Amino acid sequence: MDFGLEGASAFVAGASSGLGKAIAAELIKEGCRVAICSRDQARIEAAADDLNLSGKKLAVPIACDVTDEDQIKEALRESAEAFGGLNILVTNAGGPPPGFVDDFDASAWRDALELNLMSTINLSRHALPFLRAAAKDSFASILMVTSLTSKQPVPSLYLSNVSRAGVQGFAKSLSEELGPAGITVNTILPGYTRTDRLRHLSEAQSERSGQSTEEIEAEWGQNCALRRIGTESEFAAAATFLLSRRASYITGVSLSVDGGAVKSLL
Ligand SMILES: NC(=O)c1ccc[n+]([C@@H]2O[C@H](COP(=O)([O-])OP(=O)(O)OC[C@H]3O[C@@H](n4cnc5c(N)ncnc54)[C@H](OP(=O)(O)O)[C@@H]3O)[C@@H](O)[C@H]2O)c1
Repeated sequence: MDFGLEGASAFVAGASSGLGKAIAAELIKEGCRVAICSRDQARIEAAADDLNLSGKKLAVPIACDVTDEDQIKEALRESAEAFGGLNILVTNAGGPPPGFVDDFDASAWRDALELNLMSTINLSRHALPFLRAAAKDSFASILMVTSLTSKQPVPSLYLSNVSRAGVQGFAKSLSEELGPAGITVNTILPGYTRTDRLRHLSEAQSERSGQSTEEIEAEWGQNCALRRIGTESEFAAAATFLLSRRASYITGVSLSVDGGAVKSLL
């Protein structure tokens, strides 16, 4: 299928590793120019070098902490200037630490909301002028990376469970408002997918339970219909479709890419 992404321009947040980097790689395969950001200059430059190995130089690295609104504004301005506009925004960041209700004070709650909810809102707000202009000329889409915890809370992931619910509310509201301008807004909900984040979660659980990380990850795999942990490229393929012109009549949806882990009917 031709996704119609050749020559489009994208900003992918949280992309020095894991799911963000995998989405950037897939967009580049489709011929997009992609600005990738993360907090660490050296890590994001190394990721861009990897993504540019094909020699086409379609990835542009930008150091930007998505919990800092001024850095977001500057990173988006820089990307739009480099590409002459912006068609695609992917909001993403690391996940908050695991733990139960007594494990977090108010500042930990605020940090999690900054990391996963406010970053999504601020990235979207400041990308909007560029996306509105792109929608008039060609197309524009937003995809917010959240988590299966949006649909089915995980007992040890309080901070994620709460902040993702806010993102879902924001995404649905935004899809309604931006629909008339032709901008699609969707969320994508990874289940257990093999990345650095997954390894950190299994190490934290291993410390609490004494089980090995291998046993824990094997159990997570067994909890979904497909009985295995997903790969970054499986996740990125679904994300790329939702961002593409071929998904032009899909907006306001929350797509689980979790091997059938969420057990609800809808
Ligand atoms: N993998 C899974 O199984 C899974 C399942 C459900 C939900 N999720 C969620 O999906 C998202 C991505 O997960 P992942 O597995 O790809 O995580 P990851 O491997 O930890 O990667 C996170 C990326 O975000 C960047 N980042 C972290 N904080 C940032 C900040 N404040 N500003 C800018 N960039 C930041 C990191 O780069 P730097 O360190 O260089 O900044 C890194 O590139 C997370 O929210 C995670 O909770 C993942």
